[in-house]
Amino acid sequence: MTDISFLMCAPDHYDVDYVINPWMEGNIHKSSRDRAVEQWGKLCHLIKEFAVVELVQPEKGVPDMVFTANAGLVLGNKVVLSRFYHQERQGEEPYFLAWFEQKGYEVFQLPQDLPFEGAGDALFDREGRWLWAGYGFRSELDSHPLIAQWLDIEVLSLRLMDNRFYHLDTCFCPLTDGYLLYYPPAFDSYSNRLIEMTVPAHKLIAIDEADAVNFACNTVNIGHRVLMNKTSDRLKQLLNQAGFEVLETPLTEFLKAGGAAKCLTLRVTEPVTPNKNEKITIESRTVEMTGHLLDSGVINRALDVVAESGGSFQVLDFKLGLQKHSISQAKIKVSAPSHDVMATIMGQLIEIGAVQPEQELQDVCLADVIQNGVAPDDFYVSNIYPTEVRIDGIWVGVQKQRMDGAIAISYSAKNAPIATCKLLRDLEIGEKVVVGVEGIRTMHKSEAREKVQKEFSFMGAGVSSERRVELIVEQIAWELRQIRDRGGKVIVTAGPVVVHTGGAPHLAYLIREGYVQVLLGGNAIAVHDIEQAVLGTSLGMDMQRGVSVSGGHRHHLNMINMVRRFGSIKQAVKVGMVTSGIMYECVQRGVPYVLAGSIRDDGPLPDTEMDLIKAQTAYADQLKDTDMILMLSSMLHSIGVGNMTPAGVKMVCVDINPAVVTKLADRGSVESVGVVTDVGLFLSLLVSQLKKLTSVPALV
Ligand SMILES: NC(=O)c1ccc[n+]([C@@H]2O[C@H](COP(=O)([O-])OP(=O)(O)OC[C@H]3O[C@@H](n4cnc5c(N)ncnc54)[C@H](O)[C@@H]3O)[C@@H](O)[C@H]2O)c1
Repeated sequence: MTDISFLMCAPDHYDVDYVINPWMEGNIHKSSRDRAVEQWGKLCHLIKEFAVVELVQPEKGVPDMVFTANAGLVLGNKVVLSRFYHQERQGEEPYFLAWFEQKGYEVFQLPQDLPFEGAGDALFDREGRWLWAGYGFRSELDSHPLIAQWLDIEVLSLRLMDNRFYHLDTCFCPLTDGYLLYYPPAFDSYSNRLIEMTVPAHKLIAIDEADAVNFACNTVNIGHRVLMNKTSDRLKQLLNQAGFEVLETPLTEFLKAGGAAKCLTLRVTEPVTPNKNEKITIESRTVEMTGHLLDSGVINRALDVVAESGGSFQVLDFKLGLQKHSISQAKIKVSAPSHDVMATIMGQLIEIGAVQPEQELQDVCLADVIQNGVAPDDFYVSNIYPTEVRIDGIWVGVQKQRMDGAIAISYSAKNAPIATCKLLRDLEIGEKVVVGVEGIRTMHKSEAREKVQKEFSFMGAGVSSERRVELIVEQIAWELRQIRDRGGKVIVTAGPVVVHTGGAPHLAYLIREGYVQVLLGGNAIAVHDIEQAVLGTSLGMDMQRGVSVSGGHRHHLNMINMVRRFGSIKQAVKVGMVTSGIMYECVQRGVPYVLAGSIRDDGPLPDTEMDLIKAQTAYADQLKDTDMILMLSSMLHSIGVGNMTPAGVKMVCVDINPAVVTKLADRGSVESVGVVTDVGLFLSLLVSQLKKLTSVPALV
């Protein structure tokens, strides 16, 4: 007689009584008890041909008890009892506990608030080499280290992504001889990589969606037999080729509750294979966060970062600030399936302001630059927030903060450490660069509840937001006046759309009246501005009459040619060829401008810097000590500028495309404002608002 036993539970009380997975949706009380009994009976009968079936008494009020795979996870004489995620199933726990105890198993119980749903989410490699364990919907990643320890086995954690396949055994089935039947889209990319690295390609049997939704992975594997609800001819053929006999038995009534053959059984005789040992790659860290955590959504962002990157979290402590201005504190335990995933999560958490508890703090890790312009592997990528790094137990502020750089450490004459953000291309052999995520923290202004709305939509559909754009323009006008009056610095980055939409005279006004201290753009803003100033057309269109002018398509080339003849825009202004417009005002007011070249540039103008590294450096030089940046309809240059700018500088991004505005304004800082509108209209509103303020005495 076989020594393989399965635990089953007759469907006496089975029904779909509630909805805890997508399969149950619309199926409440829709399953037929008679048909369920008949289908379960056939499965039981089939299994009995090859194995022993043991039964647990069905109980009233726990209709899902029929799915015994979720009773616990058995290995040898040990069982890790399930801790159900949903209250609806928690009533099953004592019945299964009683059964295991009565049978003499050594029972391990997880802490009350640590869900783990037994063999539904944990499947042994059929050679007994390791345990595949799922998390993401029903079981917590933090349960895996305990299971590894109790069962003394290596655990490979897999993250489930598709809520139709909420348990590992709905989309994954290890088979005899090291084969693996699985549905890859149900897992995140890290898990798919882990599967592919662990199981040789010729042993992987990937199924398609049609088979997956028929629960083809929810299979009972006994030797070289696979018992399942239903399979396609293609899959049957693949399984046959791999040496398996497929036995189908309809289980449609149970599919209505999201289960099939495997869910209805629990293998209670899992042999312990020698040479296994507890090995777990899961890492856990604790982080602390302080600030207006709820109002600003920071706490949600932090938890999303953990979950979306493949980790799991436990909020250990949360102290809510009770007054409007008081701050909250949170302590969160973060777990990740591997060191790499943990590093990714920690990098993002540091960016949002999370810190490690004092007692766990370490100094930064440093690695040498061994090739000019190349950072060591695993270098820490800087962000826009003021950052500090811990060296010899002391926090050192990072200079020249910017996005997407590396943090290089040097020492002063007095041997004091100096930390500086550097572009990869500027790194030199012998320098030391911060790697990993230890000993790094970022500073954030607390984002209080009265923070401004981040995005204002003017042209967008839905609620009329015209008044809201007017309000934000009033606010920007007021700030521009303040900055001008106190001698501050405003930078405009602008694209040619400013000219096409009739905004050039308004931008020229801003420059003339001293509201703009630097202009950053490309070839096009200057070319089209000069075309309009000299010929009255923009891309060949008469700006007054709105009609195209014969031969107008050549206008901008004529202008480029003219400026090239004079050698520079400045010279063209000086000789009186250009007498109005944006560039004219820049030259007349001595406002510096940098025109960065691009592949699509015509000409280019002699002033356009076609060496991009030089252009980037010139932009960065101009961006020092800026109070506000107005980004006007140039995705290319605005994104470039955004990356070079540290937090704390107010950025106003105006673009007709909400996606561009969101990308630029959503830097997670209070200082950014996005305005979705036509840039010509925006500039016209801004100028009329500033004109209204002319009677206001100087704001100093
Ligand atoms: N003839 C030339 O030499 C020439 C012509 C065009 C562009 N270029 C160069 O190409 C590069 C990219 O040009 P770019 O910055 O114009 O392009 P871009 O695509 O980076 O940005 C244009 C932005 O304007 C937005 N926009 C369009 N209509 C708008 C409106 N009515 N109101 C508000 N926003 C609006 C778009 O959504 C887009 O985000 C630059 O370096 C530029 O100098 C050169």
